[in-house]
Amino acid sequence: MLEKENSSDNKTRKSSLEDNKDRSENDLLKDLTKKPAVYCKDLVKDFEIGDYIVRAVDNVSLSIYNGEFLVIKGPSGAGKTSLLNLIGGLDTPNSGIIYSFGVKISDMEQESLTTWRLLNSGFVFQNYNLISTLTAEENIMFPMNLSGVDFKDQRKHAMKLLANMGLSDRREHLPFQLSAGEQQRVAIARALANDPPLIIADEPTANLDKKTSQFIRDLFKELKNNIRTIIIATHDDYIISLADRIISFEDGRIIQEEIINDIKN
Ligand SMILES: Nc1ncnc2c1ncn2[C@@H]1O[C@H](COP(=O)(O)OP(=O)(O)O)[C@@H](O)[C@H]1O
Ligand SMILES: [Mg+2]
Repeated sequence: MLEKENSSDNKTRKSSLEDNKDRSENDLLKDLTKKPAVYCKDLVKDFEIGDYIVRAVDNVSLSIYNGEFLVIKGPSGAGKTSLLNLIGGLDTPNSGIIYSFGVKISDMEQESLTTWRLLNSGFVFQNYNLISTLTAEENIMFPMNLSGVDFKDQRKHAMKLLANMGLSDRREHLPFQLSAGEQQRVAIARALANDPPLIIADEPTANLDKKTSQFIRDLFKELKNNIRTIIIATHDDYIISLADRIISFEDGRIIQEEIINDIKN
């Protein structure tokens, strides 16, 4: 009985493998982009300050698909940053679950979460968050260093990223010696250093001059492709115009969803 079952299983497996062989790469890519890169269910994040509890994320369920460019907009205090921090594995929810690329990150230990973050997500913060004692180049090398990239390769790749950001002549500058716009460009280079499949950006153009904002808008346009998944909290009209889906967030909840390109179908 058992043997029979196994042999029919094998047949199914074989034929599905053969099917796969026949399918074009495009079909496979299409399939890949249908799967949610991030799956959140009933997420809650509370902050306790003295006698008060602020519910920053209030029972949010959300799937974000491979290759999707998702914009989250909403007023200040809506909970956008709190939600991004949960999705990016920078914070853990009070309840609810998060799967990212098939891995349950919502109850992961800090150490595993750090490794997951290094390889899977690049986070661009509103306030850049560069390490103040490291140069621009070293800040970009940092995530590569943590993930075990050879030192020479770290350097080479950091130089290339700096050049792409128009910052080759700022490699030895410390963060305080850089303008806000230059710091944000270094921060984006750092987020891209390990070429993660997921980029999360929290109001990346909010505090910047016009020229740098435009540079960063163009960069996100370039980053938008069918393989990389991008989640951005922003009010920037140009970045919003790149979105496949726009979510409006208020009081910790999704109050509206606008689908521009249906990635999952
Ligand atoms: N670390 C924290 N400690 C206490 N309250 C927080 C913390 N982070 C956020 N909050 C509160 O959670 C709510 C949502 O904040 P946030 O996620 O920063 O919103 P947004 O990014 O949309 O402006 C706000 O009321 C804020 O005061
Ligand atoms: Mg915020």
